[in-house]
Amino acid sequence: MAGLARSTSLRERGVGGRTPGNDCNIECPRASCGASVDDGPVQALSGRPVALVTGGGGGIGRATAAELVAHGWHVVAADLDLPAAERVAAELGEEVSALELDVTRQDSVDAAVAGTVARLGRLDLLVNNAGIQRHSPLESFAWDDWRAVMDVNLDGVVRCLQAAGRQLLAQGGGAVVNVVSVAAERGQPARAAYAAAKAGVVAVTRTAAVEWAARGVRVNAVGPGYVGTEMLQGFVDRGQVDLGPVLARTPMGRLAQPAEIARVIRFLASDDASYVTGQVLYADGGFLADFGVPSGGARTTDPG
Ligand SMILES: NC(=O)c1ccc[n+]([C@@H]2O[C@H](COP(=O)([O-])OP(=O)(O)OC[C@H]3O[C@@H](n4cnc5c(N)ncnc54)[C@H](O)[C@@H]3O)[C@@H](O)[C@H]2O)c1
Repeated sequence: MAGLARSTSLRERGVGGRTPGNDCNIECPRASCGASVDDGPVQALSGRPVALVTGGGGGIGRATAAELVAHGWHVVAADLDLPAAERVAAELGEEVSALELDVTRQDSVDAAVAGTVARLGRLDLLVNNAGIQRHSPLESFAWDDWRAVMDVNLDGVVRCLQAAGRQLLAQGGGAVVNVVSVAAERGQPARAAYAAAKAGVVAVTRTAAVEWAARGVRVNAVGPGYVGTEMLQGFVDRGQVDLGPVLARTPMGRLAQPAEIARVIRFLASDDASYVTGQVLYADGGFLADFGVPSGGARTTDPG
């Protein structure tokens, strides 16, 4: 069972770490966060702001947890695959809590946010990262597959955005980073549901940003190109993605490392992005900037 019933796996951590208001030297992602005694229970626990990362057991989720922890956050790695989230927590240490979460279930999402706040005292950042893919030609796209993709990649994002957003608004501020894709901007055979869901998230990102801007909640998105994760490897192994044309189409001529996406997420979550909201930052090795059709001049990836 997901959500509240399993939130017992959300590990207690860091009790007795920092003392309120005297030794906080972390890079604080919120202007109002840091060495303030007004910051509530989390200060009594560890002094760290709290991030909820959905899909926290996967490739980009794990890299995001590592990046955020290294920059002073406590991370709740929440995933349908609880063992995967637990492996991330075991690997990264006590500043990561593992939580079972199914973003397709309202009760699970509500319990994840409520459980996080109950255990850690607050929530400062939501990273909407959980995602799935189903590939099929559009003319025969099965409705079950279409609905599955939408349920996780679009509706799941909105469920988490609503639940976490209410908490962030109640606290007076915070940030959301939604993980979209270059697929939101370009047509690609067999990816109709995935592309539609990601484009929908871009639209929701902008809407949430303007609704919440004056109340201190920033909402942005990161749009990766092709990233070297197990998700991508699975498609390569099944012959559904051919990396040759992908790399040839990418001006940098290589895949992204998950850590390169995680650093963008951390930037968008941080005070360095304090005037940035409603934006999609594509981290794609130049993929979207490229016209995509050779014009006579050779693309040069060889610096020599
Ligand atoms: N890998 C890429 O090339 C790439 C490119 C662009 C965008 N993205 C996006 O990045 C995000 C992360 O992808 P990844 O490559 O790390 O994939 P991944 O498969 O490694 O991780 C996705 C995680 O989401 C979890 N998940 C799936 N359904 C869930 C549900 N209902 N509730 C909660 N968790 C669920 C999975 O268990 C998994 O751990 C996705 O949104 C994906 O669409 C990936």
